[in-house]
Amino acid sequence: MRNVTLEQIFVHPITQKYLGRSGIAHAIAVAEYAYMFSKEFDVNPDLAAKAALLHDVGHYTWYRDGEWDYELYKENDIHAIKGASRAHKLLIRIGEDRQSAKEIAVAILLHTDSYLPKGELELKPLQQVVAMADEADEENGGKHHYKTIEETDALERIRALDEQIELDLQEEMSWIRE
Ligand SMILES: [Fe+2]
Ligand SMILES: [Fe+2]
Repeated sequence: MRNVTLEQIFVHPITQKYLGRSGIAHAIAVAEYAYMFSKEFDVNPDLAAKAALLHDVGHYTWYRDGEWDYELYKENDIHAIKGASRAHKLLIRIGEDRQSAKEIAVAILLHTDSYLPKGELELKPLQQVVAMADEADEENGGKHHYKTIEETDALERIRALDEQIELDLQEEMSWIRE
């Protein structure tokens, strides 16, 4: 059993408030991709899906004269730093295991390298899975941030992921016991 489910994270007002800025549809698609990639890379699917769901929770809205200013955003954005810290605070508050909360936060911190020195980082498999999942849902001109999704569909997809992850973890436990 996990301390915290994706659904608990997803329905939390903090998640709803901040993910609304970067797009709920993008967050869910990335969580699904991360789940898929977690199988390939032998990574804990629970951590991968949670980090992916929250990876863009640190976005600030860069408006100038009522419109999103992409240049302003590129110059000043630190959403991965902000997101790592915001996600960590939220996870601890709702009872996530501390070690898991740290791993998720670091994966969020490293999901984009836009402000990091090029080629100097060697990502761990979990971090790689989250970055790849984000890339997999990327569309030109940041269009992935504007996709929409019905609230009921969103919750259904989150619950389906939760169920799948729960089954995977149970299966893993039974292997260990044998
Ligand atoms: Fe991002
Ligand atoms: Fe993203």
